[in-house]
Amino acid sequence: MDISKAIIPAAGLGTRFLPFTKSVPKEMLPLLNKPAIQCIVEEGIKSDVKNFVIITSKNKQAIANHLDMDAELEQLLKERNKNTLLEALNRIHREAQFTYIRQPEPLGLGHAIWTARHSIGKEYFGILLPDDIITSPANPGLLQLIRIARQERASVLAIQEVPAECVSSYGIVKIKKQITPKLFQIADLVEKPLAKDAPSNLAVIGRYVLSHKIFSALEEATPYAVGELQLTDAISTMIKNNEKVFAYKIQGIRYDIGTPIGWLKANIGMALQDPTYTVHLKNFLADLDSPDSFMFESSKIFEHLK
Ligand code: G1P
Repeated sequence: MDISKAIIPAAGLGTRFLPFTKSVPKEMLPLLNKPAIQCIVEEGIKSDVKNFVIITSKNKQAIANHLDMDAELEQLLKERNKNTLLEALNRIHREAQFTYIRQPEPLGLGHAIWTARHSIGKEYFGILLPDDIITSPANPGLLQLIRIARQERASVLAIQEVPAECVSSYGIVKIKKQITPKLFQIADLVEKPLAKDAPSNLAVIGRYVLSHKIFSALEEATPYAVGELQLTDAISTMIKNNEKVFAYKIQGIRYDIGTPIGWLKANIGMALQDPTYTVHLKNFLADLDSPDSFMFESSKIFEHLK
């Protein structure tokens, strides 16, 4: 089963991150030195995705600019022998192709996916939500799902357990059958239920591998009549139409970078995993407790990294 395309819905307004998102797309928020969109695309590339369909909206040109080739910058880096930087820049446009689709109105995640229907054939494809950053270096999040989709020849969603007070922020799955400790066949799913109505505490996190049949399920709904069109509702329709859908507890650390605190945690968590930053960050954090902290001194240590 060839799964070589992925949709990245990046049209959201980013209201949880205003005022930053007034003029800069939230997908350009940095995770250490990379914009989030690059981390997402790199996860896709490591999962063997070759074609990305990015759903954008107005004021999001920075995303395409970032993922495009910059001949002038590349020439400059070549002249200065900055080969490592050059290699990192080149990798993306050597290994992937991008299609951009504008979502004219913010009509929900389901509608954003629906706008990509002409770019996907009769095949399984991935979805990567850029608010969800999953760090799992040896085993990229999307690749874990692709393996399950191939094994079961069916759609599969990434899930994680969440505390009861958080279920109302997620799509929550109803289990039909547990196959292994991490793999479940699902009976249904419901978008952002109240804790008392939630069928489980297993929340859908932003990675999916779906059958192309999702597009006809999305068409069964009428976004303009009901406001936002939820992807969750269309997956539920697919199950009612006798499609098998699985949920898999993926390995890795997941951060929701759609809010300042989530983004901050992602940066701290990722810096603590990166030998370039670990020692400096740990020293800085330890120093914060001392009344005469040497914050300015320690920030200078980074000079040599430039
Ligand atoms: C979306 C989906 C939801 C899912 C969540 C994961 O919600 O609609 O089912 O659980 O992403 O992050 P959003 O966070 O965009 O409101």
